[in-house]
Amino acid sequence: MEEIPRLPKTEPLQLRYYGDPVLRKRAEPVQEITDVERLLADDMLETLYTSFGIGLAATQVGILKRFIIADIGVVDDEEEFEPLKLFNPEIISVEGECVLEEGCLSIPDLRAEVKRPEQIVVNAMNIDGEDVQIEADGLLARVIQHEIDHLNGVLFIDRISGIKRQLLRDQLKIIQQAERPD
Ligand code: NI
Repeated sequence: MEEIPRLPKTEPLQLRYYGDPVLRKRAEPVQEITDVERLLADDMLETLYTSFGIGLAATQVGILKRFIIADIGVVDDEEEFEPLKLFNPEIISVEGECVLEEGCLSIPDLRAEVKRPEQIVVNAMNIDGEDVQIEADGLLARVIQHEIDHLNGVLFIDRISGIKRQLLRDQLKIIQQAERPD
């Protein structure tokens, strides 16, 4: 009997939600790209697409590696967008400021306006282990900043000022206590 070659199987990973202590931890730099990282990248993309998100940090699936993905192709259909897979992303310069509404797969059903720099330049390592520099503005800049925050244990709600954050307190409590299927 002929052996059927087995393709690596990607599968959505378990998302971690607000209240999970892992979301407050600092992720560790990735030294080199191996099959483990490549599989993680594929699984995270699968997770992103099945959750209808546009960005995801490894922290959000409980893996404390400095790795983020972003795909704004679903909302920005004017341009062909190749999903970004960035290891050890570091913002090296910022410009401007803008307010945009944000949400987070780890904080379901909550959206709020957040002020952040409008344009950014990011140094990172790509999936082939090469150093890359990315200039981003608009939605992409926003997603990248949000995901890099995750790598430092920071959530977008931390960037909302006093009174507005007070108003979200009850909602956050409900999210934290929600029962979810494994
Ligand atoms: Ni998020």
